[in-house]
Amino acid sequence: MGKFIDELMEKMTIEEKIGQLNLVTAGEATTGSVVSTDVESKIKAGNIGGIFSMTSPSRIRKAQELAVNQSRLKIPIIFGMDVIHGYKTIFPIPLGLAATWDMNLIQKTARVAATEASADGLNWTFSPMVDISRDARWGRISEGSGEDTYLSSRIAKEMVLGYQGDDLSKNNTLMACVKHFALYGAAESGRDYNTTDMSLHRMYNEYLPPYKAALDAGAMSVMTSFNDINGVPASANHWLLTDLLRKDWKFNGLVVTDYTAVNELIDHGLGDLQKVSELSLKAGVDMDMVGEGFLTTLKKSLDEGKVSEEEINRACRYVLEAKYRLGLFEDPFKYCDEDRAKKELLTPAHLKLAREAAGKSFVLLKNVNHTLPLKKQGTVAVIGPLANTGANMPGTWSVSADLENTQSLVEGMRSVLGDKVDIVTHLGANLTDDPALQERSTMFGRTIPRDNRSFEAIIAEALEVSKNAEVIVAALGESSEMSGESSSLTDLNIPESQKRLLEALVKTGKPVVLVLFAGRPLTLTWEQEHVPAILNVWFGGTETGKAVADVLFGDVNPSGKLPATFPQNVGQLPMYYSQKNTGRPLAKSAWFQKFRSNYLDVSNEPLYPFGFGLSYTEFEYSPLKLEKATINKSDKLRITVQVKNNGQYNGEEVVQLYIQDLVASQTRPVKELKGFQKVWIEKGKSKTVAFEISEEDLKFYNQKLDFISEPGKFKVYIGTNSRDVQEAEFELID
Ligand code: BGC
Repeated sequence: MGKFIDELMEKMTIEEKIGQLNLVTAGEATTGSVVSTDVESKIKAGNIGGIFSMTSPSRIRKAQELAVNQSRLKIPIIFGMDVIHGYKTIFPIPLGLAATWDMNLIQKTARVAATEASADGLNWTFSPMVDISRDARWGRISEGSGEDTYLSSRIAKEMVLGYQGDDLSKNNTLMACVKHFALYGAAESGRDYNTTDMSLHRMYNEYLPPYKAALDAGAMSVMTSFNDINGVPASANHWLLTDLLRKDWKFNGLVVTDYTAVNELIDHGLGDLQKVSELSLKAGVDMDMVGEGFLTTLKKSLDEGKVSEEEINRACRYVLEAKYRLGLFEDPFKYCDEDRAKKELLTPAHLKLAREAAGKSFVLLKNVNHTLPLKKQGTVAVIGPLANTGANMPGTWSVSADLENTQSLVEGMRSVLGDKVDIVTHLGANLTDDPALQERSTMFGRTIPRDNRSFEAIIAEALEVSKNAEVIVAALGESSEMSGESSSLTDLNIPESQKRLLEALVKTGKPVVLVLFAGRPLTLTWEQEHVPAILNVWFGGTETGKAVADVLFGDVNPSGKLPATFPQNVGQLPMYYSQKNTGRPLAKSAWFQKFRSNYLDVSNEPLYPFGFGLSYTEFEYSPLKLEKATINKSDKLRITVQVKNNGQYNGEEVVQLYIQDLVASQTRPVKELKGFQKVWIEKGKSKTVAFEISEEDLKFYNQKLDFISEPGKFKVYIGTNSRDVQEAEFELID
């Protein structure tokens, strides 16, 4: 590869090298507000290195033909897209996928996404998004794996392996792009694009590991984030992009900015377009997404001695190497096979996986008196603004989804249940009372009809429709665009309009099942108190409706577990289980103690803790067993626990292992996830689940940023979620 690229670069003019650094959009999908112009003439002039959001082999072939037939050096173009949770077959939103805790399944979903997207002409995906987020006000919490460092790191790895397969040059793989580097999920106040100011200690221990895990798994590109990091925005941050990424982590792939992130450095206050483009290139950015700051200013900066030819060469080389790795120099049309596009999209096997993934992502939050599963008989009323909208089922960041042909919840349920169950349905309430908020929350074709009559009239009609039903399924929550980019919220309750409906439905005295659509943790204190059953279904993708039927009627036993804490109210945010103890922790059994760390009005507890999720069956944990009480640094400690399925259904349980470093040279979290296993246990049967802890699991970055362990006492916790655990102690000795 080196020789080929050296020879090519020798032939390139400086303008052609700068052209390679230019990533433009074809304007097909709406992921930002800028649409590139004159794409055709720029390709011919060698002014474009990559195009994103252009799909279909025929269109991509045409663009590629311009590059390889009509540009001077015939350098092929790379084609990218936001393939975030599926391409045409849409899987649950990433937060939902994380709730499966099923690594094998997650890898398979990424593999299918890569198969479909590459069959449609693409070779690069802007995924996985691995930003840790502990503030559910931030709409993009939906796009990541939640709050936890370990779980997110495990998922990051699986996604990369799924996309890239074992060989990036095959025509059914995609180059992965880990994003948004870095710390994008720690935006102050949960407001998108907002500043991040974070200690190195927290960064290294909690926020950086998932990016590193994706790179260790082989991700060949990185996207810089929009946010400021300790005073220097990521897209101009030399420490981040060069000292850490290139020097410490030895990353040798491509660094691309996020959408117009170079231009946005102007508003960050770093200078004009020429200045910020210079800063960005020098910091370590190779490719400029959409903004064309590089294209229009770097030559001038070179002439003025502000950037060097070596810096431009470096960036150009990384772009060319990515194309080489994808095999585009050998065959620029390798992804342009019309036949594949016809055969490999939305196949029965892909849809089957989507249905399985959706069912496994649902989290059962409450189920009193065995309200669920329902019997396949009689009449069920499915009421609410999310009941009859196919377009909202794929969830946010599913830009390639076929919205018109996605079944709604009711359609999906009917297709599974046939005439065994009579399903009646009604809007019941508007998504929100405020039409302007509804409009902002249903963009990009994710519309939900509005009924302009009084809410009383709408509810009365819904009650009339439900009057012969034995059970009411309330399909409520968020629309898909209430989460995702630029969709931060300050109020995490189910909108008032829907709350009134829910109250009215509960008042009927019929069993009510809340099927909750959400792209983030919502605050559900009233619902937890009053509604007999709550199934959180996030946004399940193409097969949502069928998967909901599978779970509600007991063909699938729910096994999802929360990848993010659900607070009691928004004032508790940011909230996460792996907090520090403080010097004045609240006594375990206490609700409030004066001069202790707590609130006057609400307890410190979340509504549902991290890792929480019920099943139709009951799992009983036997006392955990430690093989020994001490380990040295080369030892492994085996810990076992027996889990018995004591209920009436076969089911899956995610057995979770947490660790606490009791005494250290710096403060350590009260619990940190260090292992989990998802096990299938038949009713009446038991399984022994074994974990091994080694020194590696006990290490952390100290104040000097050395990754070390410290001898001393540790606690290990095992349980069904981060709160309900058993504990034991052991010691690490030198
Ligand atoms: C988002 C990225 C995305 C990019 C390209 C940006 O607005 O932040 O996540 O990959 O657009 O669509």
